[in-house]
Amino acid sequence: MPNPTTQAVKIWDLPTRLFHWSLLILIAVGWWSSTENGDMELHFRCGYAVLALLLFRLSWGVMGSSSARFAGFIASPRALLGYLARVKNKDVIHHIGHNPAGGWMVLALIGTVFFIVLAGLFANDDMMLEGPFANDVGKSISDLATSWHEQSFYGLLGLLALHIAAMLVYLFFKQENLLLPMLTGIKHLPQEVSVPTIHLRSSWLALLLFCIASVAVWLLVKMA
Ligand code: HEM
Repeated sequence: MPNPTTQAVKIWDLPTRLFHWSLLILIAVGWWSSTENGDMELHFRCGYAVLALLLFRLSWGVMGSSSARFAGFIASPRALLGYLARVKNKDVIHHIGHNPAGGWMVLALIGTVFFIVLAGLFANDDMMLEGPFANDVGKSISDLATSWHEQSFYGLLGLLALHIAAMLVYLFFKQENLLLPMLTGIKHLPQEVSVPTIHLRSSWLALLLFCIASVAVWLLVKMA
């Protein structure tokens, strides 16, 4: 039954939510496939799929729904510091999309995943496997890329721990559930919060952008 004291606001479009959960699955499978029992062919495929997802998200961050646009949620350092100074207070500050700290976390996560995938394109395993561009840069640079590819994964794990810890802090200390909107797209806000109009873009546009991103990755790998 709808709660008369809250309003349901659609904040995350389907493409953004699919991006998030596909990224999580692909990173988990990509990690597993690089372990002893894994399959490096699958690891490469996960890497290419993650790259296509990231290219899609970059374009969606410019052309997508207003809540998914980078310009809408990347706060200035001053706004970020102001937010962090207030966030420890018990009062709830309602944000329609990412809050200023969340916006920077999004950039850090996307940037780190990008770095891992780009380094992987130049990496080698000292035996028979190599990324599609490893031969173009020579062994020593390829070795460097390999160590960046591996080390930055630990960086990603650190960021993820922070990402999930922040979500739990919001849930338990600020009674704000960030997870549910990432699943359903809908956030429940008190009636008195005035909500700016969120312009949701068509999922078909997202599909077109994802297809273009996938073709771009396919061409990149083919041309290598
Ligand atoms: C490989 C693992 C993960 C990565 C790379 C990742 C990355 C991201 C990114 C990039 C966003 C921004 C979404 C966008 O605007 O496109 C985001 C948001 C979010 N993620 Fe994750 N995530 C991961 C795992 C998880 C997990 C396991 C959870 C929870 C169980 C989670 C919960 C959330 C929530 C609640 C948001 C929305 C935050 C907000 O309201 O500002 N994420 N994540």
